[in-house]
Amino acid sequence: AKTHHHDFTVQATKVKRLCKTHNSITVNGMFPGPTLEVKNGDTLVVKVVNRARYNVTIHWHGIRQMRTGWADGPEFVTQCPIRPGGSYTYRFTIEGTRRNTLGWHAHSSWLRATVYGALIIHPREGSSYSFSKPKRETPILLGEWWDTNPIDVVREATRTGAAPNISDAYTINGQPGDLFNCSSKDTTIVPIDSGETNLLRVINAALNQPLFFTIANHKFTVVGADASYLKPFTTSVIMLGPGQTTDVLISGDQLPGRYYMAARAYQSAQNAPFDNTTTTAILEYKSVLCPAKCTKKPFMPPLPAYNDTATVTAFSRSFRSPRKVEVPTDIDENLFFTIGLGLNNCPKNFRARRCQGPNGTRFTASMNMVSFVFFKASLLQAYKQKIPGVFTTDFPAKPQVKFDYTGNVSRSLFQPARGTKLYKLKYGSRVQIVLQDTSIVTPENHPIHLHGYDFYIIAEGFGNFNPKTDKSKFNLVDPPMRNTVAVPVNGWAVIRFVADNPGVWLMHCHLDVHITWGLAMAFLVEEGIGILQSVEPPPADLPIC
Ligand code: C2O
Repeated sequence: AKTHHHDFTVQATKVKRLCKTHNSITVNGMFPGPTLEVKNGDTLVVKVVNRARYNVTIHWHGIRQMRTGWADGPEFVTQCPIRPGGSYTYRFTIEGTRRNTLGWHAHSSWLRATVYGALIIHPREGSSYSFSKPKRETPILLGEWWDTNPIDVVREATRTGAAPNISDAYTINGQPGDLFNCSSKDTTIVPIDSGETNLLRVINAALNQPLFFTIANHKFTVVGADASYLKPFTTSVIMLGPGQTTDVLISGDQLPGRYYMAARAYQSAQNAPFDNTTTTAILEYKSVLCPAKCTKKPFMPPLPAYNDTATVTAFSRSFRSPRKVEVPTDIDENLFFTIGLGLNNCPKNFRARRCQGPNGTRFTASMNMVSFVFFKASLLQAYKQKIPGVFTTDFPAKPQVKFDYTGNVSRSLFQPARGTKLYKLKYGSRVQIVLQDTSIVTPENHPIHLHGYDFYIIAEGFGNFNPKTDKSKFNLVDPPMRNTVAVPVNGWAVIRFVADNPGVWLMHCHLDVHITWGLAMAFLVEEGIGILQSVEPPPADLPIC
């Protein structure tokens, strides 16, 4: 195994998109950021130097950080942010179970809008992929671009209590594509040769938008997601929530020429603002001289409608592990978390301009009616060094009030309590969580990400989860393993994992606007016996708050 050293300088860089130049926050002046390539078992040492005027942290999304929670990255959870002028070195191992594709991104305010990149994991020496080695491999980073400073967008939303401005374009490898006049000459080109296979490592790095992705005339063979292998299946369209990755093979089996690849918004929230524009890139055949017909404009592949939940369901239900797996049984912790938005009544001492949500309210969000507060301290440090007064461990295992989660509910349920509440898990406990979407304000497909763990998604469905009848839907044979589950709109998903990684681990909706509103909670997984069940001591350069 090798140790890879990298320097990440976080800095303001001039980036031109949609005909305007912005001072964007980047890593090493690159947008998207640098691609990291490692092998299973390698160690990454990344020194982050903050030359920007914002606080920053970096998260290695999908790396478990066994005992090394200090390197996980979410600000005010496992570390205090790196302040302007400061630096911090992230040091961690790539677990042998990671396959293919993950991403890294900033985990501080909305910096993730421009601070993200691919993390590619190759099989270790002497081992190989579960599929035959493709001739080419191409990271495809789906993103979201604001024609203003994204940090100002979230600050304005926090000030007014209203929904933030939606982005001005989606992007593929940082480019909006040729449907936007201004950017067309910079459209991303992805090469392929006739007869060859190209592995596309698709990463949804968009801030707030689940996206469909498809290529004209080409079918995908899906071989993995979130750094785990899948039983291969074919489809012409995939859907990724923010934070999710999907590995697909395509073959150069079409007439040589140019074909559009495109991503478009999926979000069935009828009342929520959404942007139905589409971003494009070009798949271009390389090795054969282009016949006359390929000089024609490439045609647009059919894309599902923004509310096409049926396509999303058919896609996610095709997910299987390649073989029988050991799903945890004899569950110790049977948890039920509601996930949804809310609208806070405006406090009396607030000015009207701070209450610009629907009907003079402020947007909020919660799990089990607790809206997470990012207390200005490292929760992991507070646990490890027994600093009192930072968090409480009374996060509820079940909703305090039962209601029809997918129906119209009373206004009192629109107002979650605020708190930095953790849920305590004994080392090694076997955990099941039912994640239930609520229709408070609006039903929505929420990508729920758990730090420090992968989990099996053993079932998903629509309506209210019913513990008696829905048990029959559990797949305890070959469910897929992921780190982010797209919980169906107006529905639920059930996940299972073993709490074998001590530390404080955030679980949150990967739509950043929802984290801003408090759609998060954290687990405190207690240390077990002996050094192998304990969190390592904190690194000397850990930032302080
Ligand atoms: Cu990819 Cu907590 O995030």
